[in-house]
Amino acid sequence: MSVATASHILEKLEFTRDLPTVPVVLMRLLRYMEKPLDQVDVAQIVNLISQDKSLAGHCLQVANSPLFGSSHEDEVVSIQASVMAVGVTRIQQIAVSCSLLRLMPTISFGLNPAVFWAHSLGCALVSREFATRIGYPDPAKAYVAGLLHDIGIVALLWVAPHDFRRCFEEASRHRIPLHEAEQRVLGITHCESGKIIAQNWHLSQELTDVIVGHHSPAIAPSSSVLTSIISVSDLLCRIGGLGYGYSEDKQTDFTEEPAFAILAAKYRALRPFDLARFTFETEGLLEEVRAVVSQVYGAH
Ligand SMILES: [Fe+2]
Ligand SMILES: [Fe+2]
Repeated sequence: MSVATASHILEKLEFTRDLPTVPVVLMRLLRYMEKPLDQVDVAQIVNLISQDKSLAGHCLQVANSPLFGSSHEDEVVSIQASVMAVGVTRIQQIAVSCSLLRLMPTISFGLNPAVFWAHSLGCALVSREFATRIGYPDPAKAYVAGLLHDIGIVALLWVAPHDFRRCFEEASRHRIPLHEAEQRVLGITHCESGKIIAQNWHLSQELTDVIVGHHSPAIAPSSSVLTSIISVSDLLCRIGGLGYGYSEDKQTDFTEEPAFAILAAKYRALRPFDLARFTFETEGLLEEVRAVVSQVYGAH
């Protein structure tokens, strides 16, 4: 639509004071996660999560699900016990995922908040797994990047929920990717709104690059590998039925995706990589994401 709408939205994002601030817990967790594992103060993390009863409750639900591969047979009932059961890295990943729930609007403007959370969580898990398989050295970073890649959608929901609803309706009516509908209707996409949020929150340059470039990974050359991992994982989720709640008419040949070419040039493991098999294996993971999201949202 009009450029006026686009600049109005961006201006609101830059200057409106009543945007929800990043939850303190989320910000602290992101900082802790940047530290090497041997410098992580486990007690500090357990305290941080345990102080927030609702967050701790959600974390325990996720930690007790098969999603995080916990081998414990008995249900864990405290954050301390869950650290013992699944490890501190996993608990941080669970907690940062549950913190994202705080940022979601409670009502739907086309996009169902539970569906969005499932997409973000699914993308985080697929990104971590995909990163591990191809030999990317920091799968935990891929997890966080996958989780936050679409934070620009949350930003649009804050400042322009009714405009966002029009984008969502356009996308679902024409079965096109959401960012294409945003561009058509608003003249900007969630990549641009996400950039403002990433800068306001002082996210790392790499995370910012993923948020800006996950639909066009070639535009962030310095972080193009991480951005490409998230781009492929985002597509896998959308094709695997864990998108934004509507189906897209997208026949994807992954080998023709720019993100795939960027990764294939860097990682030997990807050249013979059996993407069809990985997609098949991912289906089980996405199914578990759906189960845990309906459990968490059911208890909301
Ligand atoms: Fe996106
Ligand atoms: Fe996405």
